[in-house]
Amino acid sequence: GETPVKEAVPQSGDPGLVLLRRVGQVDPASLDDYRAAGGYTALRRAFELGPTGVIREVLESGLVGRGGAAFPTGRKWEATARQPDHPHYLVCNADESEPGTFKDRVVMEGDPYALIEAMTVAAYATGCTKGYLYIRGEYPRATARLQHAITTARSRGLLGDDILGKGLSFDIELRRGAGAYICGEETAIFNSIEGRRGEPRSKPPFPVEKGLFGKPTVVNNVETLVNVLPILERGAPAYAAAEPKLFCVSGAVERPGVYELTFGATLRELLDLAGTTGTTRAVLLGGAAGAFVTDLDIPLTFEGTRNAGATLGSGVVLVIDDSVDLKALLLRIAEFFRDESCGQCVPCRVGTVRQEEALHRLTRRVDPNEPRRDDDPDLVLLREVGQTMRDASICGLGQTAWNAVESAIDRLGVFK
Ligand code: NAI
Ligand code: SF4
Repeated sequence: GETPVKEAVPQSGDPGLVLLRRVGQVDPASLDDYRAAGGYTALRRAFELGPTGVIREVLESGLVGRGGAAFPTGRKWEATARQPDHPHYLVCNADESEPGTFKDRVVMEGDPYALIEAMTVAAYATGCTKGYLYIRGEYPRATARLQHAITTARSRGLLGDDILGKGLSFDIELRRGAGAYICGEETAIFNSIEGRRGEPRSKPPFPVEKGLFGKPTVVNNVETLVNVLPILERGAPAYAAAEPKLFCVSGAVERPGVYELTFGATLRELLDLAGTTGTTRAVLLGGAAGAFVTDLDIPLTFEGTRNAGATLGSGVVLVIDDSVDLKALLLRIAEFFRDESCGQCVPCRVGTVRQEEALHRLTRRVDPNEPRRDDDPDLVLLREVGQTMRDASICGLGQTAWNAVESAIDRLGVFK
């Protein structure tokens, strides 16, 4: 079910906000509201800078992808812009499906024109004439608001031919997913848009060279794209001095929701804002594809979480208190991956089933009074299967399906 936006934005209205500054403050249906609140200044600035100038700003800002993999956005744009093959396509990945992730939804529902403007800037910089906004099927409110925003922008000369009289031709088509987690994988999106089964393709070739319909394609996450607006409005150095990041806080907290912080805040500082309940036992960072951590002094940066053997991923911060049945949670995660595997490659198709089976056996027979043995056949099997999935799967689903289980066994002593 859908919860109202305002419940998901505990900080809305804070003057220090960058990405969420308009969410809850403007009427998401009103283009005039959006413009009065600073909308379309970034696109005007983009026209002043020219395509290469925009890419230079994005490179200098240090912006990396917010979908989870943290690839430098400027490098992606630069690589697409220089491809001689045309047309170039832009795909906004709004298939936000990582369990515990809901930041893009809040932006799309509360500030839909920001995404339309940001996609237009990206298209201008990279020479894309057509954009696809691929949104998960479970987001009906965001879909309706974006469709309205696209139609209105088109009717006001902000999409279509000769945008703002600057000769730019660019339009956006909205496409809805149908409930498959794998369709958020960038090459599975291409297949889905092309009318094929939503299965990932092998990379390389990377989409920047050969993507949608075999053409050079930029794929960016929603949050990544909306960051481009403050980069152009403020300039790269000012943006980089206080770089904003959205976090999705859920679980054992008093105020779950989307929080905007600047990079560098610690996990403890975020949890202080959200107010933990019970005794915090661990935090799952990065969602089902992520890892459990127990050190709350980790800095919430891509590097800081990597050094702690975790990932910032898409910004999931799922707080686990001592009332949570961790074995049941691991089984749920394993079931999720088994269910969502597209079945295309053997390590993931078979591995996710074997992982779930081994967890079921362990859960049924672990005697709380019996000390855990590292040579337990099911623990050995889990490690072998997990490592094989990590090393040999085609896409991120199989490569990450063992992360959370491994960290729970090693760091939280589940099955001990
Ligand atoms: P990836 O590391 O394969 O690629 C990241 C991006 O960089 C892609 O767009 C890729 O095309 C591009 N790229 C990588 N190397 C390149 C090169 N040499 N030249 C040009 N472009 C290059 O990661 P992937 O599989 O796209 O994403 C995995 C992440 O997705 C995980 O970290 C996971 O946390 C996250 N994820 C997020 C979800 C969400 O709902 N936001 C759902 C599921 C996973
Ligand atoms: Fe499909 Fe899993 Fe292989 Fe990805 S790793 S292509 S989800 S079977």
